[in-house]
Amino acid sequence: MSASAYQIIDGKAVSLASKEQTAKAVAAFRQATGVQPCLAVVLVGDDPASRVYVNNKKKACEFCGIRSLEYALPAETEKDELLALIEKLNADPSVHGILVQLPLPRPGDEEAVIAAISPQKDVDAFHPVNVGKIMQGTAELLPCTPAGILALLAAAGVTVAGKDCVVVGRSNIVGKPMAMLLLREHGTVTICHSKTQNLAAKCREADILVAAVGKPKFITADMVKPGAVVIDVGVNRLENGKLCGDVDFDAVAPRTAAITPVPGGVGPMTIAMLMQNTLTAAKTQTQQG
Ligand code: GUN
Repeated sequence: MSASAYQIIDGKAVSLASKEQTAKAVAAFRQATGVQPCLAVVLVGDDPASRVYVNNKKKACEFCGIRSLEYALPAETEKDELLALIEKLNADPSVHGILVQLPLPRPGDEEAVIAAISPQKDVDAFHPVNVGKIMQGTAELLPCTPAGILALLAAAGVTVAGKDCVVVGRSNIVGKPMAMLLLREHGTVTICHSKTQNLAAKCREADILVAAVGKPKFITADMVKPGAVVIDVGVNRLENGKLCGDVDFDAVAPRTAAITPVPGGVGPMTIAMLMQNTLTAAKTQTQQG
């Protein structure tokens, strides 16, 4: 086999297949219960990247037959106002999922806002109750980006059990829950971060390397074991306006067995998993209703 026979994992295709499956499941659920799953998205401020994400979420909802509500609030919105909106959405039985787009203009508000969302409606799986369940391995709502990465690995025919997995980055949104989900799949997991010593050597141990650092081309060819599977979570906007991952794709790809591109890798999967979570949340709440 030539050194360049690597697989580019097509996140767009896997995401589309997942959304098609969710759309069918939503239709069946509506038929059986008369209930249409509904996702409420809250956007505070006018960050252009957040606006793009929120628009993409709305489009995915339409595709899947999920009702979507958007609450676009000014950047100056007080924390109490935001908490009051969340309380209203928590109490509304026609709303099954609540997503507050992060980061907030005042990042100091995030902890209280996340904690205010009803755990059953927390389709990001960021609430401490859901984070605890992820630790226990009992979660129904899985964090969207890490769950999307597991789906990509499965679609690419990559098994996790027994593999050495290295996650670079320890954010609450990606790095930490990613490590937990890989552990749940019986991977042997190392979490690396900005203070990690001998980072390149640790990355070279990885059969599965997940890069979630937020620095363009941070992972270079010397950090990758030949034949590894490389997952790039980075979405970095370069000065020329192009998107670039955390992995130096051109140099790294020929060393790998499989790699995700940016764009078109992990990104589309996050939204596909959000759609799945919204249906799961609707089912859970409808069973209890
Ligand atoms: N900002 C970046 N990624 C995410 C995400 O997955 N959920 C929310 N709510 N905000 C984000």
